[in-house]
Amino acid sequence: MRNKLIEEAKKVLLGNKKKGYTLPTNNKLYPAQWKWDSGFISLGYSYFNLKYALDEITTLLRGQWKDGMIPHILFHDLKTNYYPNHSVWNCGNKIHSSGITQPPVLAIILKKILDKNKIEILDKVKIKSIVQKLKKYHEWLIKYRDPKNTGLVSILHPWESGYDNSPLWDYSMNEVKVEKNLKYKRGDNKVINPEYRPLDADYDRYVTIKNHLRKNKYNPKKLYNKSMFNVVDVGFNSIFLRANKDLLELLKSFNLEHNKLKKFILKSENQIEKLYNEKKGVFTNYDIRNKKKIIVPSITNYFILFADLKNQTINKKIIKNLKNHNHTKKYIFSSIKPNHKKFEEKRYWRGPVWINCNWIIYQGLKNKDKNFANKIKEKTINLIKKNGFFEYYSFKTGKAFGASNFSWTASLFLDLVMEKKYN
Ligand code: DGY
Repeated sequence: MRNKLIEEAKKVLLGNKKKGYTLPTNNKLYPAQWKWDSGFISLGYSYFNLKYALDEITTLLRGQWKDGMIPHILFHDLKTNYYPNHSVWNCGNKIHSSGITQPPVLAIILKKILDKNKIEILDKVKIKSIVQKLKKYHEWLIKYRDPKNTGLVSILHPWESGYDNSPLWDYSMNEVKVEKNLKYKRGDNKVINPEYRPLDADYDRYVTIKNHLRKNKYNPKKLYNKSMFNVVDVGFNSIFLRANKDLLELLKSFNLEHNKLKKFILKSENQIEKLYNEKKGVFTNYDIRNKKKIIVPSITNYFILFADLKNQTINKKIIKNLKNHNHTKKYIFSSIKPNHKKFEEKRYWRGPVWINCNWIIYQGLKNKDKNFANKIKEKTINLIKKNGFFEYYSFKTGKAFGASNFSWTASLFLDLVMEKKYN
């Protein structure tokens, strides 16, 4: 059974593969290369085709902007019905792209791949160049998304988080004044049942913010202060802290300069605790633009475990709280705590189970609570076994929603079942 599923997972990836990169799914919903999808996809390939794994990252880095930014979408194919497409974004370096970024998972994935594979001498040159580009990207995030040197970086569009319509953004999005006479045509809800997708009211705001970024020529110097959306997100910062720690190891192994990064890590490790609400035992977001704490029980707040904080008292409290999220249920983790007023069973990031969230939390728990970590792993594998390689699932029934043949679900399944048994 497991072997058959492993073969099916590989088939999903190969079925979505284009020249040098892989689509998130084969059903027209996402006809381009997405940044954090590509990271997860690369990890899956590393179990059966190391060349494809490195190609995925290399192609993504070909679209890196001159200043270091890695865009969240690269439009390799210009003739699609995706909205917003390349002409709407109207930017890019070498490859048409979006003008925003997405969670910085690449250094984490690269380190994982290098830890378990012997890289040939020839590839070393290639990998060193990847590491240098990732360094430039992390420096971009630090310089432009934390210009006040606080140790925490901001996102300037909900799409940058990857969890687009999470209730985490409701307050901040309500503060965004929708552009007058806004004209655009969504493609997503023609391909997928609109009940599972964000609302038009969300898109009005996504597009308004995007247009404002474009008007400002995506100028990172200006936009930290000017953007209509500026939030310090726990999930994004946890991933960044973990990625910085992994990048530090990669820089050391290639004898590359790393002192500045080391300092930033120390600062982040301290400052991220400012997002900790001791009374509730949870981490919460902060809306910089509106100066407001955002307290929403999102599973992404638990990405803090992935950051591997040294503070074990906090780690213990967080794990205790995570156990109250919904772990006794058959299907875990709902993206929003089910008893929360904004929870919706089927709608994208407002409730469904996402495999990458389970995977991130599993990685964060491995060295802190083995039993719990194992339980998450088994439940995640079983959910996929029972319902297939989909984009997201109901936490109540396991029913699959969104895109089928979803690449990162297949990829992370491969990682979960093929990683070496940890001790
Ligand atoms: C989409 O189109 O739904 C994506 O999540 C935006 O990046």
